[in-house]
Amino acid sequence: MTTFDPVPVLTLDGPSGSGKGTIARAVADRLGWHLLDSGAIYRAVGYAAGLRDLDLDDAEAVARCAAETRIEFRDPGDGGDTRVVIDGIDATDAIRTETAGAAASAIAALPEVRKALVDKQLAFRAAPGLVADGRDMGTVIFPDAPFKVFLTASPAERAERRYKQLKAKGLDVTLASLLHEIELRDARDASRTVAPLRAAADAVVIDSSGRSIAAVVDAVLALVHKG
Ligand code: DC
Repeated sequence: MTTFDPVPVLTLDGPSGSGKGTIARAVADRLGWHLLDSGAIYRAVGYAAGLRDLDLDDAEAVARCAAETRIEFRDPGDGGDTRVVIDGIDATDAIRTETAGAAASAIAALPEVRKALVDKQLAFRAAPGLVADGRDMGTVIFPDAPFKVFLTASPAERAERRYKQLKAKGLDVTLASLLHEIELRDARDASRTVAPLRAAADAVVIDSSGRSIAAVVDAVLALVHKG
């Protein structure tokens, strides 16, 4: 049973590379609402499981790790990126690698792990409101959210955005390999039996292909202001 919670939530679900992270942060800033980056939580658990040398297929051990790991989001206070601190250690950059993304995707397919992370995510719902960025925010975690967006973009465009990001960081990647990885991850995220990636029935679908960040932010804000 869902109890009524008056704190508004805007859920922003969609595949990686759809621009969700950027849009979610900008919308949260404009509204003055809190932000939940649920992908960072899955990445943090994948990373923590790696530190403990766990077998990523061992659902029980990874779920225990998910429950025990302390994950904090710290605002650096200088306008820079939110720091992700895992059991007291800053892992902001470590959880953003392709390897960490693959580990996150693997452990996110385990129902036991998803269950262990529900309360951690619900705890982000605080006044005056929450922007929740993820895959199952509107379908599973905040089904009662008054505002739901499903953000997409073509695989080619998503691969290109990722390519530019990684190149800017000086990493040696190819567009073709990124496109291949994106397609594989999409297929895995969409076909898993628990919380598959899909738009909630009551979500507004926005395709960000060929649209500027500002235009997408405005489209999302318009939904909230319309009420
Ligand atoms: O959004 P991201 O790339 O940081 O997410 C990392 C992985 O975690 C991705 O494979 C999907 C998974 N994930 C999930 O299953 N559910 C969420 N709510 C958020 C992310």
